[in-house]
Amino acid sequence: MTVSTTVTVRVPAKVNLQLAVGPRREDGFHALVNVFHAVSLFDEVTVKEAPPRQDFGLATLTASGGTRVDLAGVPLDATNLAARAAALLAEETGKGSPVEIHLDKRIPVAGGMAGGSADAAAALVACDRLWGCGLPQTDLMDLAARLGSDVPFPLMGGTAVGTGRGEILEPLVAPGRYRWVFALSSRGLSTARVFGEYDRLRPDAPAPRPSPAMEEALASGDAASLGAALTNDLERAALSLRPDLARVLAAGREAGALGALVSGSGPTCAFLVGDEDSPKAGGIEAEVVRALEAAGADSCVPAGSGDVLGATVV
Ligand code: C5P
Repeated sequence: MTVSTTVTVRVPAKVNLQLAVGPRREDGFHALVNVFHAVSLFDEVTVKEAPPRQDFGLATLTASGGTRVDLAGVPLDATNLAARAAALLAEETGKGSPVEIHLDKRIPVAGGMAGGSADAAAALVACDRLWGCGLPQTDLMDLAARLGSDVPFPLMGGTAVGTGRGEILEPLVAPGRYRWVFALSSRGLSTARVFGEYDRLRPDAPAPRPSPAMEEALASGDAASLGAALTNDLERAALSLRPDLARVLAAGREAGALGALVSGSGPTCAFLVGDEDSPKAGGIEAEVVRALEAAGADSCVPAGSGDVLGATVV
């Protein structure tokens, strides 16, 4: 294997097509049935060999981003999940050497699209390549699960169902290609806080179950069926903390979206506007964007889905 001195990895955001949340477990996490779906909104993570220095830990971080990304919410120290990913890989393989990690962000920060988890997944792949570890995908997935419930999926991409606390993944048959509009919010929401609000609102949540309607919709590739099957148990909790989002969701639905929901723990809202190839989707997309902006969404981003690869060296 060639060992380079700089490696860049492109990694996608996700939207949750179904997020069924059960009761809080003894370890503090919630049992989930979580249908992850990769969308074409990407961060790029570059790792570069750094000269060894006395005052230098394993990784230093820098970040840049699109105009809509709130970089103030990205920690640039050892607490960043991408730095923790590098540290975990170094610890497990004994091959770590100092690196500079640069995060070029397009995925919203604290937006419910797993941007921090995506960066961690990308850092694992990039450091694995840079340090010549050559870990098999299954080992990278295991390390990812130790970093966070949402970290394994961006290694995989496509569509998958996560059980346990969301980290045990099975790929799903999902041949459809879709178009989405995401309404971003300039203020993020803490995932832990949204789960806490969920517990307050649903102290007696039942065990989470897969949705046959979702599985059928995904297998058929039909956008209208998928739109009708979208569900998110965290939506009520996110709306309780951010009541303004209800207006955004309603505006997108009225403008013709085939389905709308809060993405993960929010505050990003996702609107399915059609099949990738549908001639009508472009018109619906324009209407939805207009309506969301009028309803107070901070910004709108179109994206595709269905054939989006997981973390890939570019
Ligand atoms: O796994 P991760 O570190 O991404 O989770 C962030 C927070 O989200 C956890 O600290 C927990 O509060 C909440 N969470 C949860 N149940 C899950 C996943 C996350 O309660 N299955």
